Amino acid sequence: MEKLKLPEKSKTYIQNELKRYETRESALIPALFEAQKVFGLISPEVVDVLAMEMDIPPSRVNEVAQFYTMFNKTPVGKYHIQICTNISCAMVGARETAEMFCKKIGVGFDEVTADGRFTVSKVECLGSCGTAPMAQVNDDYHENLTEDGVVKLLEKLK
Ligand code: FES
Repeated sequence: MEKLKLPEKSKTYIQNELKRYETRESALIPALFEAQKVFGLISPEVVDVLAMEMDIPPSRVNEVAQFYTMFNKTPVGKYHIQICTNISCAMVGARETAEMFCKKIGVGFDEVTADGRFTVSKVECLGSCGTAPMAQVNDDYHENLTEDGVVKLLEKLK
């Protein structure tokens, strides 16, 4: 298997981030985001690549990656639908909304559809509690979701 490599542009970005902070660990979040953008997920191989690039023990890189749900540990579809099922969202039907997404797409939680287009995941609070229930699709928020809203959103993504 070919060894993973960070593109030069990503290496430069990470090295610049490392210079911005007092400790190397402080640059881990932006570095993990950059690696996820390049590789699509934070696998054990990606952890090793980052650890080497940042001169930080792999166990430390892995700890941070595992803690945050925003870092994908397994492959996800082109559209990653992350539904907040924390308390404010749960109180207005987020769990049912999450099930609805899965049913309409025909996929289980955290699976990738056969065409590689969708993954549906339940996540913790996304900081948009006042517009619950809500979902984040890639970088965009979709708020006050109703059944009609879910249908329209999926139509837009298809
Ligand atoms: S509880 Fe859902 S966004 Fe905060």
